[in-house]
Amino acid sequence: MKRRRPALDPALILSELSKTSSKWLDLTVLEQVESTNDLAIAQLANASQDSVFAITADEQLKGRGRLQRQWQSPFGAGIALSVAIPTKFFNCEISAIPLLVGIAANNCLKSLGATSKLKWPNDLMIEMKSGELKKVGGILVQRLDDYVVIGIGINVDLNEDELPTDNATSLSLIDIRTSREALIAAIIYELENTTGLVSREWLPMYFQNSSTIGTQVTVARRAESSITGIAMNVLESGELILETNDGLVEISSGDVIQVRPTLP
Ligand code: BTN
Repeated sequence: MKRRRPALDPALILSELSKTSSKWLDLTVLEQVESTNDLAIAQLANASQDSVFAITADEQLKGRGRLQRQWQSPFGAGIALSVAIPTKFFNCEISAIPLLVGIAANNCLKSLGATSKLKWPNDLMIEMKSGELKKVGGILVQRLDDYVVIGIGINVDLNEDELPTDNATSLSLIDIRTSREALIAAIIYELENTTGLVSREWLPMYFQNSSTIGTQVTVARRAESSITGIAMNVLESGELILETNDGLVEISSGDVIQVRPTLP
């Protein structure tokens, strides 16, 4: 018989958060939800001005990914966290927020000892011993008026058979054990710290942790044909600069369907 994984302990998350100087303590912990992002968006209607609130759940029934994909959140196996933050709390361009969230989440994974990297714009990847990159987490940032709802999903304890594809992994599969409560608290605190960063601070952090810069990638775009080039740079807007046979091309994350390292 399959063991039921334990549910999140809300008091433990708050006690971990209280070890930091975080002011973001408005947290709702649910056993089951359709999507933490959808719920956070619905709750924005009743939010008091300039408040920050977070919602996390043990299980999502309709977890959403970028580009209309689904996100799997089996009960107790991962992190499904959404944080609603006024855009004015960020010091970066609004279009760069998804990259800053990637930096924050990646810092938390690295502090657990994971060999994690950011695939542009913000997929959380693990560099395996073979050199292969496997996805361990993803980020969905949605903007509503003066707010962003930041959704972060991390595969903490998913088994091989719970993973959506062969290109995915989980922290337990790479022998990293962590309490989900501690990781949620760490992400909230790290997000709070990241909001203050300006481009001269966050761009070097992004480059250091990028698995995309310097590699050849193929980007499938929404409206145009796909394009291949060397990923040369990221701008303070968060756009990716590709060097192609036809010169430099700017790619905004809204255009991207897929960024795939091109095989030699
Ligand atoms: C992606 O890689 O495509 C982004 C995945 C984002 C998943 C998270 S889990 C918490 C939040 N709620 C959702 O429905 N999606 C995000």
